[in-house]
Amino acid sequence: MEYSKFMVLNADKIPQQCLPKHVAIIMDGNGRWAQAKNRPRVYGHKKGVDAVRQSVQFCTQLGIQSLTLFAFSSENWRRPEDEVNTLMELFLFVLSKEVKKLHKNNVKLNIIGDLSRFSDALRSKVDAAHELTGHNTGLQLNIAANYGGRWDITNAAKQLAEQVAAGQLTAAQITEQSMAEHMSMHDQVELDLMIRTGGDIRISNFLLWQAAYAELYFTDTLWPDFNEAAFAEAIACYVARERRFGCTGEQIKQLLAET
Ligand code: IPE
Ligand code: IPE
Ligand code: MG
Repeated sequence: MEYSKFMVLNADKIPQQCLPKHVAIIMDGNGRWAQAKNRPRVYGHKKGVDAVRQSVQFCTQLGIQSLTLFAFSSENWRRPEDEVNTLMELFLFVLSKEVKKLHKNNVKLNIIGDLSRFSDALRSKVDAAHELTGHNTGLQLNIAANYGGRWDITNAAKQLAEQVAAGQLTAAQITEQSMAEHMSMHDQVELDLMIRTGGDIRISNFLLWQAAYAELYFTDTLWPDFNEAAFAEAIACYVARERRFGCTGEQIKQLLAET
């Protein structure tokens, strides 16, 4: 069966269990979007915030449980100082301005990444946002800031090593499960779909552990142009795929027939 954009936008036409429960996005292409318009790169980042708003609204409408957005990677510190500063200011501004609205919409905000390098002002905004929205039951919105997949895995290993050093655990007792329990977003549903905008076909050190079985979707659309229709296309592509998790297609069909 072919799933059209129309069907995705009318979510009641597709059973909820076919939709991804957790979507992550590498929001790439802001700089090129601005440069194509002869504007500074920063203009693209500002426009990118509108695309974030649209995506949050879209996920809320579709009943998606978790949306994880890559806002700033651990490698993005390598950018010119000006651009890094502007990105930090923008982040601070968005946190101040948008959190109340998110709260009103029952969104639970969660910033993931190594926050130790951020300013005190930014960290206190993050704490306040976590506190305000912590009990919300709607969309779980994770913003990855100074995040790196390798950092996440290293961090989990470090925590387990501390437990071993304290004699609470032996090295032999470390399992995939115990690693997973120390990874970012371990308390949320598994990642189903990872989208990258901007045309590049790589993961750029995003969710390495969590993406083990995620479907990957790459689009040339630049992030500021990623609107509801573009998101719907990504969902439609996901819905049409067969996820086999190492099984055969026949086994999956049988399983579906039994449920
Ligand atoms: C993504 O857009 C946003 C961040 C990495 C903060 P880019 O700034 O990477 O835009 P391009 O890839 O240079 O066009
Ligand atoms: C990935 O985009 C990081 C974010 C979207 C925050 P980049 O533009 O930094 O990735 P590379 O450098 O092209 O791999
Ligand atoms: Mg880029």
